[in-house]
Amino acid sequence: MRFDRRGVALLATLSLLACAPADDRPAHADNPPGVADYRPGAAGIGDPDFPKDGNGGYDVSHYDLAVDYTPKTKQLAGQTTIEAAATQDLSSFNLDLAGYTVRQVTVNNAEATFKRAGDELTVTPAKPLGDRSRFTVKVDYAGQPEAAQDNENLGTYGFIPTPDGAFVASEPNGSKTWFPNNDHPADKATFDFAITVPAGLTALANGELQGQPTTAEGKTTYRWRELHPMATYLATATLGKFDLRQGQTPGGIPEVAAVDPKFKNGLDKLYKVSGEVTDYWSTVFGPYPFSSTGGIVDDYAAGYALENQTKPLYGGFEPDEVIMAHELAHQWFGDSLTIKRWKDLWLNEGFATYAEWLWQEHKGTKTADAIFNEFHARPASDPIWAYPPGRAKPTDLFNASVYTRGGMTLHALRKEIGDETFFRLLKTWTAEHRYGHVTTEEFIDLAEQLSGKNLRTLFDAWLFQPHRPA
Ligand code: ARG
Ligand code: ZN
Repeated sequence: MRFDRRGVALLATLSLLACAPADDRPAHADNPPGVADYRPGAAGIGDPDFPKDGNGGYDVSHYDLAVDYTPKTKQLAGQTTIEAAATQDLSSFNLDLAGYTVRQVTVNNAEATFKRAGDELTVTPAKPLGDRSRFTVKVDYAGQPEAAQDNENLGTYGFIPTPDGAFVASEPNGSKTWFPNNDHPADKATFDFAITVPAGLTALANGELQGQPTTAEGKTTYRWRELHPMATYLATATLGKFDLRQGQTPGGIPEVAAVDPKFKNGLDKLYKVSGEVTDYWSTVFGPYPFSSTGGIVDDYAAGYALENQTKPLYGGFEPDEVIMAHELAHQWFGDSLTIKRWKDLWLNEGFATYAEWLWQEHKGTKTADAIFNEFHARPASDPIWAYPPGRAKPTDLFNASVYTRGGMTLHALRKEIGDETFFRLLKTWTAEHRYGHVTTEEFIDLAEQLSGKNLRTLFDAWLFQPHRPA
């Protein structure tokens, strides 16, 4: 989904102005104007580092997910409804889905044919879809979820069954382990969730609960709605036994904190600190982008946390303040402002790491400058100097350099342009791209524009050189 600067869905605008000129319509010299040229959509969205992730030929505006999961049998039955618009004349298109048996696919309520190959589900609608037409896809599927596993690099992610439910954290491309979708951050959409679990369990998703959960025949359905655009990797349906605390942050933002009973002593701290951090970042980074905040601690030792939109998820540990500061900073950097290509990941992780330092500075524990200096003192042989953070490597996406040297880049910039311009830059950045997409080039351009300085050398040394900047 594409949003303009005010966060207004462009698709809605386009449907009113059905004959608005297309700016990105590919030219087909061999077809006279007005004659449809139906072709299959590409199997990838165009990220050269992850060639099969996402898909071409359409743009999703909304996902409606119905998921019924039984922890005892590990059976998931799902129905996904996707609202999309074609971005070319389409004879067929792909969705990303890993595992499951697909029972039926319809497009605009007409039965469609489909094929599976690896994690690609190719759908051929009964009638081809014209460029810019809006269409609805429904996929019925069922089976035993299998989490994504990458021992070298990413660990276990996606829909991960736990003894009492599931831990759902999908960065970078694990949402296809629980619903068919356009699995790449370049296509954001709004979400509705209806998650059905055995009565007694709780299902937690992004956004806000819609009404009270309903129970019938021993099963409870939780309905959640995320009304702001969201990258697929940030969607969650974490479920199981949870203790909840709900209310508002001191600044008035609705908040939900949830912990697996094993972590029940940490519930009040999770609630209190998440609220305090959300309010503080709203003063530093600009208004909070979403309609609620919070956090979830589940009893699954993921070895990481994930900034799931509105509800960061902590994998099997009690988060300290600094980690909560990191995950909640991602609500601005990563969730509201989303990367188009994974190579720009430092725009998420470098910013969230720098937020950890700003939090410590705010609390009076340590200044960001002292933390920067400690890292800068590392010897020239330290691995963070060999890995340029401005170009995250697909085989080592979450390298420490993307985090630490990414954060150092922002501190070097702050020293160069001064506090007033630096903090104005952060707020301008989040305001200009709220709910949208961002690239490294755009950040460098804005920093130069606001400071009136040429910053090419600084950014080149910090982001792109395989050695320690002076
Ligand atoms: N974005 C997360 C964080 O820095 C890390 C996610 C790591 N993902 C993974 N599959 N290991 O908070
Ligand atoms: Zn992070």
